[in-house]
Amino acid sequence: MNVYDSARMTDVLAPLGYEPTEDQTQADMVVLNTCHIREKASEKVFSELGRLREQQEENREQGRDLIIAVAGCVAQAEGQVIMDRSPWVDIVLGPQTYHRLPEMVARAERAAAQDDRRYTTNERRLRGFGILDTEFPAEPKFDHLPMPTAQGPSAFLSVQEGCDKFCTFCVVPYTRGAEYSRPASDILAEARKLVSDGARELTLLGQNVNAYHGNAAQGTGTWGLGRLIRALADINGLDRIRYTTSHPRDLDDELITAHADIPQLMPFLHLPVQSGSDKILRAMNRGHTGAEYRAKVDRLRTAVPDLVLSSDFIVGFPHESDADFADTMALVRDVGFIQAYSFKYSPRPGTPASAMESQVPEPVKSERLAILQEELMRQQNAFNQSCIGKTMAVLLDRPGRQPGQLVGRSPFMQPVHVPAEAGTVGDIVHARITSCSATSMAAIPVGKTGHDPLTTDRTCPV
Ligand code: 5AD
Ligand code: SF4
Repeated sequence: MNVYDSARMTDVLAPLGYEPTEDQTQADMVVLNTCHIREKASEKVFSELGRLREQQEENREQGRDLIIAVAGCVAQAEGQVIMDRSPWVDIVLGPQTYHRLPEMVARAERAAAQDDRRYTTNERRLRGFGILDTEFPAEPKFDHLPMPTAQGPSAFLSVQEGCDKFCTFCVVPYTRGAEYSRPASDILAEARKLVSDGARELTLLGQNVNAYHGNAAQGTGTWGLGRLIRALADINGLDRIRYTTSHPRDLDDELITAHADIPQLMPFLHLPVQSGSDKILRAMNRGHTGAEYRAKVDRLRTAVPDLVLSSDFIVGFPHESDADFADTMALVRDVGFIQAYSFKYSPRPGTPASAMESQVPEPVKSERLAILQEELMRQQNAFNQSCIGKTMAVLLDRPGRQPGQLVGRSPFMQPVHVPAEAGTVGDIVHARITSCSATSMAAIPVGKTGHDPLTTDRTCPV
């Protein structure tokens, strides 16, 4: 979502003459787009701001300015703290107000032109310079954003934002705000535009994407995610559809049937479970048990036998005992994941879990994480190894780091490296997997497919 938001911020800043640079020392403005999900992520912001202050001062010595903006969820949660601790920051804006970035930048530019920079940073703080906009506006930002342009064959499309689930460990409902679904007609228009720009794959984004319930594109009422995907699948030239991130509770029959019926819907699903212990799932306010998660996975696999899963796990949630952790390990072994993200529980200010008693000691968290990650890595490697010798459809999306190489994605999301003669960026090629590492695969081309995804071989190799 932050990658998508950063791209949209680039779009809104383009009319002001700003364009991205790879070389930070050349920048006239730096926007830090921040994440508050775990402590480690948000700590990074303050150390980065310290470095940027030095650059701002160097720039000023050379008679140039450097506007510094902090966007995203750390800005939302700690905006005033950022302003107080780092008065050299010009703009602080939350995830729901970045459509107003041009106005804020214009104001910051004016302030700089009026020579506010002659003040020391401490004076700036005392004089109240700096712009803070962390509102949740009544009108959604999407109504004010320009149509995005696809930058390659694979594009993101935000369909839903925010979350009303209030898992007890999570800051998202506070930083991203209440759940909001974009109207289906807006999404379809944006999807058509992205496909006409050359996108062949769309990843639908939302913090709780399968809670999607936007206004129907035809008639009255609302559409769920399954219905929306069905409409998207009718777009000519859209060969692959993915969505992330889902909640097990919102995985309904309509969506499961969509997986069975729609060949463009890729057979890879990120479905966070967090824990395998019912006691912990209850304390997390997840709204599902381990058995309910397993049952949903069984139904998905009945509908789509080649479907593979990835997940998120938290170890060391308050009150997690050895037996609870053993339940998580049992679920991992039973369900099987080809990829996963796993984290030590990180207490977040203002969330209910951070005030719970029986916080798990750090060494116990570390030990459990190591055990879990070893098993997850074993499963990931086993899947990748089992792909060797199989043929898969690969959507080539970028040049490789080595010359003479292209990289694409398998239907199951692994990066696949092929020799450059295999095709060009944007092609879907059939390639036989020849080797793999834990995180990627190498393949040789065995043919090129046309636009019709039905001609692609996406048989699950395991
Ligand atoms: N501590 C550790 N992990 C967390 N996540 C969210 N909040 C926390 C937290 N407080 C993880 C969850 C979520 C993923 C995006 O980040 O696993 O699914
Ligand atoms: Fe956070 Fe996801 Fe729970 Fe919402 S459903 S509170 S985003 S973990």
